[in-house]
Amino acid sequence: MGRAKKVVLAYSGGVDTSVCIPYLKQEWGVDDVITFAADLGQGDELELIRQKALDAGASQSLVSDLIKPFIEEFAFPAIRANALYEGRYPLSTALARPLIAKRLVEIAREVGADAVAHGCTGKGNDQVRFDVAIASLAPDLKVLAPAREWGMSRAETIAYGERFGIPAPVSKKTPYSVDLNLLGRSIEAGPLEDPMVAPSEEIFTMTRSVTDALDASEEIEISFKSGNPVFINDQRLDPVAMVREANRLAGNHGIGRLDIIEDRVVGIKSREIYETPGLLLLIQAHQELESLTLAADVLRSKRQLEMQWADLVYQGLWFGPLKEALDGFMDCTQQPVNGVVRLRLHKGNAIVTGRSSSGSSLYVPEMASYDGRDRFNHQAAEGFVYIWGLPIRLWAASKRSSR
Ligand code: ARG
Repeated sequence: MGRAKKVVLAYSGGVDTSVCIPYLKQEWGVDDVITFAADLGQGDELELIRQKALDAGASQSLVSDLIKPFIEEFAFPAIRANALYEGRYPLSTALARPLIAKRLVEIAREVGADAVAHGCTGKGNDQVRFDVAIASLAPDLKVLAPAREWGMSRAETIAYGERFGIPAPVSKKTPYSVDLNLLGRSIEAGPLEDPMVAPSEEIFTMTRSVTDALDASEEIEISFKSGNPVFINDQRLDPVAMVREANRLAGNHGIGRLDIIEDRVVGIKSREIYETPGLLLLIQAHQELESLTLAADVLRSKRQLEMQWADLVYQGLWFGPLKEALDGFMDCTQQPVNGVVRLRLHKGNAIVTGRSSSGSSLYVPEMASYDGRDRFNHQAAEGFVYIWGLPIRLWAASKRSSR
């Protein structure tokens, strides 16, 4: 691994990233470690994190609020793309990585660093996302990943940190690894490593259990403009407020938990628990409105490309050419996605009970209706069905004659 003099380190305040600071200096001879922590709505006290990096030996500790670009430029495109990795995980962690990587590269350029660094291990997806995003934005910049090379156990890492004044984590009572931001929480490790062990209630903070969910059901209406959610009921909400409100509503009704086995980029199956209430609710409503407003062939192609979009975001290819091309397709489809979806939230379920679009609905009542006043030409169907069924009729006849 090539060495560097001045390094910008992605910093979360956790043990691994904290230990990276003295480790880079002591073991790898880095002179300046500049840390960067992003506020993505995770609710951490960022001033404490800023100070913690300085205490661990950082020469500069930077913090910035990236909530708005995170939601507008990363979460909203994911909603428009109905992005669900392997059909289920709405990418709450994955979406944050390219934004952090982009900011790391910008800071590296500003301060004249010759490398950037992160505290990811070699087993996870996040190293892939950071490394590949950085490579696509700044192919000349070195990426250092000390935790991929140091070979220390968790206990050894903590002991190493203590030698440099990094306090052992206070929350040693929780054996879980949690990644969180405004879109949700990803929870793994500890007892959850046994896929048959049920998650205990204490791991959840954004969602109520079905048992504790509100007893009364609640009807809400989500309105979309060009594929973006803009209103809940009569309240116009900017993107950040939209996600917060969707989180609150869905979370109170016990909606938005996932317990899944997923396929990591490095080929390992892992068990992860997620709570992503708002994002799942908004994607569900958005999908519903698309059924009403998109042409059948566009809808079918989009459903296939959505899978590819989710795959490539999961796999760290945010800044690649396929992403750009698929975004072109997604954007092109969204202009008619205008209207309202009504959902009933109740005890872990969001049930669609209606949808409408004043300008872009492709549902034609006079065509669909069975009340006899319809404009549909029933006689014309005969010729259509004759030709549609012709190949199978010929096939069936040839089978009979060859017997
Ligand atoms: N499996 C998720 C992803 O790859 C989350 C990874 C981080 N999870 C965690 N519990 N630290 O996007």
